[in-house]
Amino acid sequence: MRTQQGTPIRRDAYQPLAYTVATVDLDFMLDPQETVVTNRMRCVRNPDAPAGPLVLFGEALERLSLSLDGQVPAAGQVREVEGGLEIDVDADEVLLEVVTRIDPSANLTLSGLYQSRGGYYTQCEAEGFRRITYFPDRPDIMARYTVRLEADAATCPVLLSNGNLLETGTLPNGRHFARWEDPFLKPSYLFALVAADLKALERRVTTMTGRDVLLQVWVEARDLDRVGHAMDSLIHSMRWDEEVFGLELDLDRFMIVAVSDFNMGAMENKGLNIFNTKYVLANPETGTDLDFENVESVVAHEYFHNWTGNRVTCRDWFQLTLKEGLTVFRDQQFTADMMARASDSADAAASARAVTRIANVRVLRSGQFPEDAGPMAHPIRPDSYQEINNFYTATVYQKGAEVIRMLHTLLGREGFRNGMDLYFSYHDGQAVTCDDFVGCMAEANGADLDLFMRWYSQAGTPRLKAEGVYDAASRSYSLTLSQHTPATSGQPDKLPLHIPVAVGLIGADGADLPLQLEGEARAGETTRVLELKAESHSWCFTGIDAEPVPSVLRGYSAPVILDIAEDDTRLAFRMAHDSDPFNRWDAAQRYMERVILALAADKAAGRPMQVPQAFGHAFRALLTNDSLDPAFVAETLALPAEAYLLERMEQADPAPLRAALIHLLRELGQALQADFVVRYMDLEVEGDYRYHPADAGRRALRNLCLRYMMAWGGPTAVQLAILQFQHAGNMTERYGALAALVQSDSPERCKALEAFHERYRDDALVLDKWFLLQAGAWRWADSAPATLEQVRALMGNPAFSLSNPNKVYSLLGGYFKANPAEFHREDGAGYAFWAEQVIALDRNNPQVASRMARALEGWRKFTPEIQARIRPALERVAAAEGLSPDVTEIVGKALA
Ligand code: TRP
Ligand code: ZN
Repeated sequence: MRTQQGTPIRRDAYQPLAYTVATVDLDFMLDPQETVVTNRMRCVRNPDAPAGPLVLFGEALERLSLSLDGQVPAAGQVREVEGGLEIDVDADEVLLEVVTRIDPSANLTLSGLYQSRGGYYTQCEAEGFRRITYFPDRPDIMARYTVRLEADAATCPVLLSNGNLLETGTLPNGRHFARWEDPFLKPSYLFALVAADLKALERRVTTMTGRDVLLQVWVEARDLDRVGHAMDSLIHSMRWDEEVFGLELDLDRFMIVAVSDFNMGAMENKGLNIFNTKYVLANPETGTDLDFENVESVVAHEYFHNWTGNRVTCRDWFQLTLKEGLTVFRDQQFTADMMARASDSADAAASARAVTRIANVRVLRSGQFPEDAGPMAHPIRPDSYQEINNFYTATVYQKGAEVIRMLHTLLGREGFRNGMDLYFSYHDGQAVTCDDFVGCMAEANGADLDLFMRWYSQAGTPRLKAEGVYDAASRSYSLTLSQHTPATSGQPDKLPLHIPVAVGLIGADGADLPLQLEGEARAGETTRVLELKAESHSWCFTGIDAEPVPSVLRGYSAPVILDIAEDDTRLAFRMAHDSDPFNRWDAAQRYMERVILALAADKAAGRPMQVPQAFGHAFRALLTNDSLDPAFVAETLALPAEAYLLERMEQADPAPLRAALIHLLRELGQALQADFVVRYMDLEVEGDYRYHPADAGRRALRNLCLRYMMAWGGPTAVQLAILQFQHAGNMTERYGALAALVQSDSPERCKALEAFHERYRDDALVLDKWFLLQAGAWRWADSAPATLEQVRALMGNPAFSLSNPNKVYSLLGGYFKANPAEFHREDGAGYAFWAEQVIALDRNNPQVASRMARALEGWRKFTPEIQARIRPALERVAAAEGLSPDVTEIVGKALA
């Protein structure tokens, strides 16, 4: 049963259960405080499992009755154990009926059945179903479900669950009911119900085999003018999965429901996806280009889970990346294809794909690298956990997607597709492991992926070193790649991995050289994938007339840190010429990183900061290059994330880093003011707003120009920012102007914040942006008020609530995670505030508390003085009474 708090659960301890469940029949009498759940299930002995009792998990349940084949159990037959029940059963099959009472109104964990704005919603992944009824709540128990819901007809006119609607009807006392049946086997974590006052946008579409299906997006009536984009995204996702993977929607009806209180982004419940409103609602007035992009990719992600996750699911939660890494990879490919499809030339399409890739890699570097370098480091398939909710991580999701991408790179598009086809042919309807998946990839391609499996068991970000030597006499260039993965907590020794490294060589004129490996017939390709399988290996390219510039890890072909000796001139050269747009961006980022870290070191040592002229020239060359896609230029000129830069410092020190960033923005803003103004003027997007990559790219670069100009803050900049703020025709422009004003020392910032609040005071999602912006505000003048005091004051705003995750993520998450210099203020007040808030949140919602707690897990990367200030805060949380397993695991590992 559930282990004692603090004892980890181990992957190698997996055992099938003695009894599985064939059918489940659930009856919900919905009531805010006293919901009664009747669960009748047919349990059957599992011939493949060791003998044992029937095991049921249950949490926060009040048991009203339990019977076995209609009989009251014998004395001692049912035992209460920690986390649930054990029942002795003699027969191979038993009909179990258990009735429980639960209180949705008091459930602030947002796991299980809870209320939000008067409606009822469920969230069962990973272990929420056991908070609804007693059940062997594990993903390897796949059953057929029927559900009857009964609720008050006036407050909950809409009654939804998984699958197909069988029947509805009215009842006495203003009640009504609905019955649903899900024709597919599913694990309990995919169960869902919704009972609320909602309206739907509906579409009927025809699938690839000509079936007519009904699509619905359910929202509150006032939000109906914001659901069109989610519906379009759903239809695009369906088409894409048909075209690219031959995968069709398998139900007659597919529903999306938006709810404003939700712990994560969205959930792929079978036929009834439940979404955080943030990832459904978007219209031009309230959503930015980024919101439109996020809605599209999250809708796609959840839809794609129907095959990668639902039809084939995970045997146990250690296999989470089986569905998440694969599904993230699929949604990334979808986004890249959508962006490319909207482009009007092959060049534009390539650039659009690169922009998507860059966005993926930014998330990996700023979110996953720090995780892999800290106390929570784990392989994409962890070996143990204390609380599974803590393992929905950047490693499982983002690095997991990178691992799938490497398979795609190694096997090719067709080989990958063949592997997928084989996977579904073998495992449809099953709960399987990552070995099963990689096994299908290997079998379909006759490939040996044994070594590749190390990516599943080894934590830590590998360092890849590239060294080239040119030999004029033999006209050859030898490239040596070597790898090393630093030790991570609990994994001191690392083995070499199978790493695909895409490589090109650039000639002096900036053009790629055709590549010919020694002893091979000339292929003439300009990019080749080298497979590094040992600690070190050299490749020799022949027929090279002059020393080339290597371009290594093109397209970011593996999730590693590339270590390559390049001086500023070489970086500037690749920044101007690398034919691989990803690497061109990366060259610019490396150059910028180098400049920023040098400025920070100067600041820390009390030396004056000075931006190198050569960098200014290289920056200007990109800024003024109007033959490049603006979206790409925006990515190239944007600062690397602070979280990533902290990771790159010898000893992380947020204050001088922030000073360096402010200095760089101001210097460039001043020196290139005229260029920024010209570009800004040119980039204006005419006409009505449309969500389109070309327009979004122009807006992104335009907002970035404004940001640099405002950092310097000349009168022209202030004037342009105010004009844009006041006359913006869409949220991307309005918010862009507000952000530029807030990230400056202009006195206009306060007025703009007030005006924005006034305009959107009743709009929860827009206010989230308003909170986030203030939580993340830098201090541009010593006289400016400290962010912490602002954050405290904002917690008193009537729109703020500690029980709404979106609000917490914006205001507290924004401060703890997106504002290192302010959070790590010298007096330690940021840490005291953190401890206070984590403890307060943990009383109601451990999942949210744990996510906030993670803001300090990487504390050992900081200078000793900073660490000494952080420790007491961690200890204070660790010592708090009644701490959840979620937060216990995080602070425990941080302090270990
Ligand atoms: N499976 C979901 C996804 O990635 C995410 C998820 C996991 C989740 N646990 C959750 C969502 C808890 C909400 C609450 O698509
Ligand atoms: Zn997912």
